[in-house]
Amino acid sequence: MLVLGIETSCDETSVALWDGKTLTHRVTTQDVHQAWGGVVPELASRDHQRLILPLLKEVFAESGISLSEVQGIAATAGPGLVGALLVGLNVAKGLSLGFGIPFIAINHLEGHLWVHQLENQDIVPPFLGLIVSGGHTELVKVNDFGNYEVIGQTRDDAAGEALDKLGVLFGMTFPAGADIDKMSQEANGRAYNFPRAMIRDGLDFSFSGLKTAVRMQWERDRDTLFADRTDVLASVQEAVMEVLAAKVTKAVEQTGITTVCISGGVAANSRLRELMAIAAEESSYRVVFPSITFCTDNAAMIALVGQKRLIAGEQSPLDFPAKPGWTLESLHPTAG
Ligand code: KG4
Ligand code: ZN
Repeated sequence: MLVLGIETSCDETSVALWDGKTLTHRVTTQDVHQAWGGVVPELASRDHQRLILPLLKEVFAESGISLSEVQGIAATAGPGLVGALLVGLNVAKGLSLGFGIPFIAINHLEGHLWVHQLENQDIVPPFLGLIVSGGHTELVKVNDFGNYEVIGQTRDDAAGEALDKLGVLFGMTFPAGADIDKMSQEANGRAYNFPRAMIRDGLDFSFSGLKTAVRMQWERDRDTLFADRTDVLASVQEAVMEVLAAKVTKAVEQTGITTVCISGGVAANSRLRELMAIAAEESSYRVVFPSITFCTDNAAMIALVGQKRLIAGEQSPLDFPAKPGWTLESLHPTAG
């Protein structure tokens, strides 16, 4: 089944065509937010409007496929920024209505959970999913398709958000995660012993204490800390990634599930990949990361989940709303 996927939940505008084997895919990361040190919702909506139709034209031109061949249209309906979600949703609904193609509304987090199947068909439930990005830090027990238990989540900031905010504090461009990663490869991540909040308590996460610890030191001695920013940020990264790896291992021990699928923008982090490989080896579990392109938000994962739901006979009505706070646990095997 050939499915068109559309993703506009935050600051990536993305379109994909996926038939279960072949993918044509476009992602544009909006750079209008850089000057503001964070995503500005209204600017995101406007940029999605500007980008979405040219991207659609590009995927059809590249694939040589025509819209009349598309058998299903999947768009992210939540969670995310409401104005941003509405752009992709309305394009999808308009195409569905105009061309008589079934429409399916997709939960963005469900997309992240299943993104691995674009490259690894042998990933089958049960598995543990760690979704770790600028907006989310969630540990999910995937019992089956559509059957999810969130067993750990952040109580405050997301992991990527903590990296981004501290990067911006030290003068880096938003989002800072990828640059911190690059910079840290030449730096000493052990130079500062920043707090690893809740590392031994349960499966929830907390990253706001780390932010406060760095900020307090910054207030005390700005010049020294700024001069040493490479080691400071490498140490921040080390603290974040150590906590993520420790919680994943704990989740494996608690659930007895030995396949772990990591996704979201922070899954691109090279230090997280190293630490997870060590932890997986030590505690005998399998850890899977997507290619870097599929870590950050993308429409390929939306088309993939859309295809699964459409094949199962599900469709969404054209008045399906944007759901900014749509949870994984409210999903069902084949009903939104
Ligand atoms: O999944 P994503 O595109 O969007 C959401 O936030 O939902 O993730 C973006 C996040 C940002 O916080 C960015 O700094 C972080 O992923 N990120 C990274 C890396 N690449 C992107 N964080 C650490 N290391 C990276 N290599
Ligand atoms: Zn995401």
